[in-house]
Amino acid sequence: MVWQQPLPEIYTQLSEPELRIRIESAKGALGSRLVILGHHYQQDAIIDYADFTGDSFELSRRAADQKNAEFVIFCGVHFMAESADILTGDSVAVMLPDLGAGCSMADMANLDQTLDCWEQLQQTCPGQIIVPVTYMNSSAAIKAFVGEHGGAVCTSSNCRNVLEWALRGGSTSAGGKKVKVLFFPDQHLGRNTAYAMGYPLEKMVVWDPRLDLGGNTAEAISNSDFVLWKGHCSVHALFRPEHVDQVRINYPEMKVIVHPECKWDVVQKADMAGSTAYIVKQIEAAAPGSQWAIGTEVHLVNRLREQHPDQKIIVLSDCQCLCTTMYRIDLPHLCWVLENLLEGRIVNQIKVDAQTRKWALVALERMLSIKGTGNPLGKQQPIGSTVD
Ligand code: 13P
Ligand code: SF4
Repeated sequence: MVWQQPLPEIYTQLSEPELRIRIESAKGALGSRLVILGHHYQQDAIIDYADFTGDSFELSRRAADQKNAEFVIFCGVHFMAESADILTGDSVAVMLPDLGAGCSMADMANLDQTLDCWEQLQQTCPGQIIVPVTYMNSSAAIKAFVGEHGGAVCTSSNCRNVLEWALRGGSTSAGGKKVKVLFFPDQHLGRNTAYAMGYPLEKMVVWDPRLDLGGNTAEAISNSDFVLWKGHCSVHALFRPEHVDQVRINYPEMKVIVHPECKWDVVQKADMAGSTAYIVKQIEAAAPGSQWAIGTEVHLVNRLREQHPDQKIIVLSDCQCLCTTMYRIDLPHLCWVLENLLEGRIVNQIKVDAQTRKWALVALERMLSIKGTGNPLGKQQPIGSTVD
């Protein structure tokens, strides 16, 4: 683990206008040698300097496209920069402006726990095919495990398509055997998507890595179609079903749109759910006067409100749903990375070792080949419907 070193004092003393002048000058001097990628949850000041913005699927695609650039500065979190390093050639250096920009959800599954879970599942389900699928929000080691065992990475924009592929046996043929998906690390994205595909909740078990058999009986595991890792996003966990109820009372005309990392009961009460790019597209396509309560990170919601003053846009809950790690990427860190590059120094490089890279790349390329609609739930179930 490498920690973020404190920035040289000058970067903490510069005013925003001074930082902007220096960033623009360094970016200009580096020209086409450099590409800056910015996730939708980044602060506006960072988005101003991003060559490409997007959700994690789009930014992975952009990273994979960089054949001529020498440097990619990834303004997002660690797992995104790792994936960009895996998807770019050896001649491209990927940097994360603040090494403290991690993701608590990605940290909820590690390789030792995964190997242990895999062994227990193989013993519990003889004669079944288990296909591992990991959400993008996971370490390179988990992605490599998934790639090596016939599975794929998914994002919130193509989760349903990846799960459909996995249930056909993933990279192997099911040959008439029962197929089960082991889904890392976001139980909510897994549950929301599987439910929208028509699987009842009883066909899903949650795997708690601290407990024997993940806290389940052997029979429940054997009968299940989905084993959902016990992970979650602490930001999206702040949205609760009562928030949707409150919006229905206060603004009867308002539509509720949420990220599928929200809990199942929130997604069930919402009108729509999808990746950050899907949310952006829905607002961009909406008519003036439309009203939205959005259940996702506050920077994206605030930006959409500013960009669409003809619509009424609120955050679904009244709490500040802030991803504090995304927020660590700021102008001083960006300026520091850029000015080091100008002087020929690569700082904060994210480099995945060759062994891990090999299989993680397989899993990521499978993800990129399976397009999605941005809405992992596919056709939205009628609100309040039940699946039997
Ligand atoms: P998207 O892929 O929808 O951008 O989501 C990434 C993420 O981390 C959301 O919390
Ligand atoms: Fe991770 Fe949640 Fe932040 Fe996304 S919003 S990067 S899942 S902690």
